[in-house]
Amino acid sequence: MAGFQLEKGERLFLYATVLLLIAFFMAIIASISEAGIHLPDDEGQVDPNNLLNTAPFNNLQDRPQDTDGDGVIDAVLIAKAYAFEPNPIVVPKGQEVEFTVSSQDVIHGFLINDVAVNAMVIPGHITKVTATFDEAGEYNIICHEFCGIGHQTMFGRVIVEEGP
Ligand code: CUA
Repeated sequence: MAGFQLEKGERLFLYATVLLLIAFFMAIIASISEAGIHLPDDEGQVDPNNLLNTAPFNNLQDRPQDTDGDGVIDAVLIAKAYAFEPNPIVVPKGQEVEFTVSSQDVIHGFLINDVAVNAMVIPGHITKVTATFDEAGEYNIICHEFCGIGHQTMFGRVIVEEGP
């Protein structure tokens, strides 16, 4: 009799565990389909050990230009413990900027305050995010993924200049 009751309790735990697993799984699915949470889009892959020799990361510009003539400034940055390069980067006000970022070592974050830029930078992957700065001034690029002992010191700057 006591054995039967224990078994019943265990069976309840089993059901509860399976229900929880299903609930968590549904939460992940919902976060992808409803909230749009996902890893950076697959914008390409790059060998993190050879990053500095691989285009476009072999040609970092602190005053990035519209290199492909599509009206968007093409800014390329490298994230590494514990800095962004180049730093600062200078862009004009009011023009769309596409940031192409990759990491030389571990996972970093790429958040720019006052604009809607918030991405992960994963070694081996290329992250692309765009922003338009409507106000001239200085913006901070913040690493918001814990990346090691110097994580809290890791930031860069975007200087937005008044247009011509
Ligand atoms: Cu890089 Cu935190």
